[in-house]
Amino acid sequence: MSRKAFAASDAEWAYHGGELVRMGDIRLSPATHALNYGTGVFEGIRAYWSEERGTLQVLKIREHFERFEKSCRLLRIDLPSTVDELCDVTLEILKRNAPREDTYIRPLAYKAAESVGVNLKGKTELSIFTVPMANYVELTGLKVCVSSWRRTPDNAIPARAKCTGSYVNTALAVDEAHMAGYDDAIFLTQDGQVSEASAANIFLVRKGQLITPPVTADILEGITRDAVMELAGKELEIPVIEREVGRTELYAADEVFLSGTGFQIAPVVEVDDRPVGTGSIGPVAERLQELYFRAARGGWEEYADWTVAVEVAEGARQ
Ligand SMILES: Cc1ncc(COP(=O)(O)O)c(C=O)c1O
Repeated sequence: MSRKAFAASDAEWAYHGGELVRMGDIRLSPATHALNYGTGVFEGIRAYWSEERGTLQVLKIREHFERFEKSCRLLRIDLPSTVDELCDVTLEILKRNAPREDTYIRPLAYKAAESVGVNLKGKTELSIFTVPMANYVELTGLKVCVSSWRRTPDNAIPARAKCTGSYVNTALAVDEAHMAGYDDAIFLTQDGQVSEASAANIFLVRKGQLITPPVTADILEGITRDAVMELAGKELEIPVIEREVGRTELYAADEVFLSGTGFQIAPVVEVDDRPVGTGSIGPVAERLQELYFRAARGGWEEYADWTVAVEVAEGARQ
């Protein structure tokens, strides 16, 4: 299976309870509301290590914290910090941990009351931690299936907000896919249209057009999805269409690929045991993958505003 898990070390600096602390010093009660009821929201941000410049390039940090704020609004979580402050504290954690490798940043805001009873009241907590993260999935061609689990609809648990509890839906689909020998799962909406992958948005190439399900298809409004649409329009001049996608369009597509902070740009070469197009990575996905990494890893002047650089000298770790 091509999915990897990345562990956080106790010695790393994290943000918790309004201060910078070591991961190993954070203690949570089993009565914590979010642990019992899934009442938390989170983000996933990547920082790419540049050996050449000695910097971590933090990708789309502001966009992630803006989405985080919106997710918090849904769960009535009052963030103690502004987006600017969240960006600053994240950069400070990276400076202290000083990882000289690709790193993933996980902000998490959650209902922290230590009492039994489901509601959206009570105190909240904010934590931010980092883990090293290489490729989360293989980028050389995924084999996926359409899940028997449907995406949670907007009127049940909205996928638009990155709620911890809604990832039970994801875990069920990923587990089913892995048990059957696939790399990942594609969700359909309740009415049978293509929604997204387990933790990534989906794109199809058909008749020279790049097609992706609309934001009303019970998807997370992906930041990488926006980046792909920008690159496709500006650099490849391919028309990008947001529209409903039928299941069997996945079988008829010339290319299929997934986009996400973790997944990056991951081409799909098989859906439900049927080859996609020629059964190998298509030219549009290949080109977009190349362009995405060029912009995301920093150093491409045209897309300099995608990343924020954090200098990491050797031995800077605190
Ligand atoms: C369910 C889901 N869809 C899509 C994405 C892709 O979103 P982004 O590109 O903002 O990482 C993610 C990634 O976190 C996700 O969990």
